[in-house]
Amino acid sequence: AAVSRRASLARSRTTTAYRLVHGENDGLPGLVLDRYEDTLVLKLYTCAWMAHVPALLEAIEGALESRRVVLRLSRAAQAAGKARGDLADGATLTGTPPSGPVRFLENGLQFEADVLRGQKTGFFLDQRDNRAKVERLCRRRRVLDGFAYAGACSVYAARGGARDVTSLDASRAVLDAARRHMALNRTHPSVARARHHVIVADVFEALEALRSRGQRYDLVILDPPSFANSREEIPAALKAYHRLVRLGLSVLEPEGVLVLSSCSGQVSPEAFFATVHRAARAARRVLKELARTAHPPDHPIGFREGAYLKGLFAIAK
Ligand SMILES: C[S@@+](CC[C@H](N)C(=O)[O-])C[C@H]1O[C@@H](n2cnc3c(N)ncnc32)[C@H](O)[C@@H]1O
Repeated sequence: AAVSRRASLARSRTTTAYRLVHGENDGLPGLVLDRYEDTLVLKLYTCAWMAHVPALLEAIEGALESRRVVLRLSRAAQAAGKARGDLADGATLTGTPPSGPVRFLENGLQFEADVLRGQKTGFFLDQRDNRAKVERLCRRRRVLDGFAYAGACSVYAARGGARDVTSLDASRAVLDAARRHMALNRTHPSVARARHHVIVADVFEALEALRSRGQRYDLVILDPPSFANSREEIPAALKAYHRLVRLGLSVLEPEGVLVLSSCSGQVSPEAFFATVHRAARAARRVLKELARTAHPPDHPIGFREGAYLKGLFAIAK
């Protein structure tokens, strides 16, 4: 059932990476299966699946074609994997191990996923539709891509005609990947034309520094990691979103576009959007919403708490 739900993505010639199984939303709690071209990445979030890995592989091989299946384990599951000895994070379960990052296409752009060591299964596939939306808003803009990871949003912004794109992240390794992704896509004239910069820094600190230097952007993307993993962390998460919006707006030109995302499942859409507007008012800006976004079709929502992803595209007056 999970495979047939993704039939239209599977037929695509321009997108060759997508989620095949999205945990309990597809009836398989704690289990994710992502495709990157002909590599499948099986990610287990609970050790309860470990005894069933042979049966899972049989089911996967029966339903899907692939060159290899790579196993990834959440931090919680890694200890159990080590204790068993035969299931390690990054192990290749079938086929030959990948010789490096796995190349794939997303909406005609070329990317590489570090399926052995990258965050999640190597890429943030859930942001695909938001990235495509970003592309349509970037013509001639100066874009700041905060929490850039491997620069996927940055590359879309460049293809969309941005004149200047800055990828900002705390990790030097992911920004090296962002540079490689820009280079890989220079066959698109607009990507070749765009100036690309990277900043390795904490986003909160970098935004303060950019603001005090008078640096301004026409479009600011902020796609932070989850700020709340439990109910107790919700107030702190809302505080962090509030601070982030204020800081983001402080480097955004009047009439500039704010693109903000939240993957904190504990934070409800109502609380998130209310916080964003409250922060804008505190910054003496008014947000005119262009769109609110949620999950792409390959990340279905099967139960209330499964709806973790919230996005906002807004013009900041
Ligand atoms: C959800 S991912 C971003 C995904 C990205 N927008 C994409 O489309 O692929 C979050 C990123 O934020 C980075 N990060 C987490 N905390 C950070 C911080 N305080 N400052 C800068 N980067 C941070 C992580 O290294 C990770 O790359």
